[in-house]
Amino acid sequence: MSKVNAGILGTGHAYPEGILTNADLEKLVDTTDEWITTRTGINERRKAAPGECTSQFAVEASREAIERAGIDPNEIDLILCATVTPDQILPSTACLIQAQLGANKAAAMDIVAACSGFLYGLTIANPMIQSGQIKYALVIGAELLTRYVDYTDRSTCVLFGDGAGAAVLGPVDQDHGILAARIRSDGRYEGQLYAPGGGTKGGFTAETIARGDHFFKMKGNEVFKVAVRSMAEISREVLCESGLKTEDVDLFIPHQANRRITDAVANALNVDEAKVFSNIARHGNTSSASIPIGLHECVEQGKLSKEDVILMASFGGGFTWGAVAIRW
Ligand code: ACO
Repeated sequence: MSKVNAGILGTGHAYPEGILTNADLEKLVDTTDEWITTRTGINERRKAAPGECTSQFAVEASREAIERAGIDPNEIDLILCATVTPDQILPSTACLIQAQLGANKAAAMDIVAACSGFLYGLTIANPMIQSGQIKYALVIGAELLTRYVDYTDRSTCVLFGDGAGAAVLGPVDQDHGILAARIRSDGRYEGQLYAPGGGTKGGFTAETIARGDHFFKMKGNEVFKVAVRSMAEISREVLCESGLKTEDVDLFIPHQANRRITDAVANALNVDEAKVFSNIARHGNTSSASIPIGLHECVEQGKLSKEDVILMASFGGGFTWGAVAIRW
């Protein structure tokens, strides 16, 4: 049997209609549109309405990706949903998505790797497709981060937004698809970005809720420095493994954490500014959803041509980080 690579056959995205602008945030905390724009590049972000949940946007994004891939949901062998904001503790959001899609032959599970979750998903599915163990995988990044944002904490509440992106992976010829994929984590950085409540350690009681233990807490400045270093390093590794140089990259889709972070990574890698995708102004940081939403927007905007080399890199809570190089 001839060898295959895992390639992206279809993409999709979905997000809530509700928009939270910088002007809205000026009314909630001591901040300004000017501070948010210059320090982060964010103008607005999506915010789910009460009653909306993570899986509904994940399902919408997945349906679009499946349709564009031209396959039937029943052909999907694996569903990986990257999320740190699941619908509920049990079952996994991936299982809830599976049921709604009618992808009844798939194994389904969630990946908890914060902003790197989508690249973790691609990295896990890749060798399973290459080896022939599975044919089609649906990899999703879906988050309703605004449910875990403390709207009295100006250092975090301006950053996060809601949304979902999805990609169907399947076999493509060996010169295309995923060329190299690497993921890494370092749990010693727990205290830099975390939400202590809601689990078996922190508990979930009236007191923990009143204290806001379930909200994200972040030492943004520290995260910033490690994010730039780690994303640049792991990007160099996947390019090297793919036998590529920075100048071979046609499009760089970094995790949309902060415009200053993505600029600094692109600068460290020497990637031309024109090749760096950014939608942070409209979406803010949507964690695991940010790269698949970006990828779909690139497809929609005709930014990708056959043979193009795409580099994706991410960094998030854990810490976790990763990079994937793809030939389209
Ligand atoms: N409005 C106005 N002032 C603010 C705001 C705000 N919204 N937030 C913080 N400030 C103030 C601070 O209080 C501080 O004031 P001080 O100097 O008087 O103490 C000053 O601005 C500078 O604060 P810094 O934290 O140093 O600001 P910085 O330039 O680092 O920007 C930010 C903060 C945007 C959070 C940045 O550090 C960042 O983007 N960090 C990385 C985020 C990230 O990548 N997270 C990982 C992924 S998320 C995930 O995994 C779910």
